[in-house]
Amino acid sequence: MPLHPGPDDGPPSFHDLLATAAYRAVAAGLRLGVFDALADGRRPVASLANALGTDPRGTGLLAEALVSFGYLTGGPDGYANTEQTTKWLAGGGYAEVDKFWSVVLFESWEGLEESVRTGKPAIDFYAWLADRPDVLRRFQGMLSGHADTIAPEVASIVPVGSTLLDVGGGHAKHAIRLCTAHPALKATVIDLPDALAVGAAAVTDAGLSHRINLLPGDYDTLDLGESYDTILLFNVVHGRPAAANETLLKRVASALRPGGAVVLLEHDEHSPDRASDAFARVFSLNLFHGQGGQVYGADTITTWLTKAGFTAPTTHPLTTSPGQSLLTAHKP
Ligand SMILES: C[S@@+](CC[C@H](N)C(=O)[O-])C[C@H]1O[C@@H](n2cnc3c(N)ncnc32)[C@H](O)[C@@H]1O
Repeated sequence: MPLHPGPDDGPPSFHDLLATAAYRAVAAGLRLGVFDALADGRRPVASLANALGTDPRGTGLLAEALVSFGYLTGGPDGYANTEQTTKWLAGGGYAEVDKFWSVVLFESWEGLEESVRTGKPAIDFYAWLADRPDVLRRFQGMLSGHADTIAPEVASIVPVGSTLLDVGGGHAKHAIRLCTAHPALKATVIDLPDALAVGAAAVTDAGLSHRINLLPGDYDTLDLGESYDTILLFNVVHGRPAAANETLLKRVASALRPGGAVVLLEHDEHSPDRASDAFARVFSLNLFHGQGGQVYGADTITTWLTKAGFTAPTTHPLTTSPGQSLLTAHKP
């Protein structure tokens, strides 16, 4: 948790040194299971180390660091989770987000300077994920959980006919929600094979295998099909360079019937809330570094859409996901 030091407490970078060290210590706590091991109450360090299978001195030093950042309380009887730690980190929940972002920041950002210097992503995020099945599982789990939260609102906005294509729709939650709400709808979901494995389980669980077709492959080279009523491009364009998006949107236009709609889900470029705004900028830098993308402004996306032959989009800010909006455009 941030220490909020004052302006006289040293150079600003020292505050960030502390914040970075705190996040790395939290990641170690999560990976070693510290917060879960303290879920039932305070433990002396020897008992904690025994439960974790870790070195007692190292465990004590990690616990002391976590005390200083407000994640644990210390005392003569050992260490305990704080109220906030119990609420957010013990037993899952937000811990999944921190486990994901800590790996991204502390491992994949290693070559950040190279990306900035050359203008080309120093890593290929999806290849990097494919080499780390647990991170990939966590990434898809986060996307799937977020889709569960927004799917009802999304389904109330997306125009639906009888056919829908979800491009990069891996977990299939939006196709499932829309097919459930519209009994005549048939959907196709395209994604990379590992991501679609997550969707396959969800589609089977929902009993919708006969109406949702899962198509594994690269959406840049696969035949997208034709005459769809609706095509979803959710959280896709921010992960790609501008030129690749222009090409993809033209392919999407060809796969729609006249009057059909493309619906994009994207992060807003700017947010009035300072923390959300800072996150959007960090997220943008991360997208540039790993995928050659960024959070694009609505003006840029509108230009691509009109160049691909679409009408100018209508924007629907999502109340279930502040800082994200749906952009709906039609093929005339
Ligand atoms: C940020 S996720 C968005 C997932 C989903 N649309 C959502 O909004 O929750 C991007 C998705 O695109 C998929 N993807 C990335 N590159 C792809 C490619 N070349 N071909 C097919 N799918 C791809 C990823 O596997 C991932 O599931």
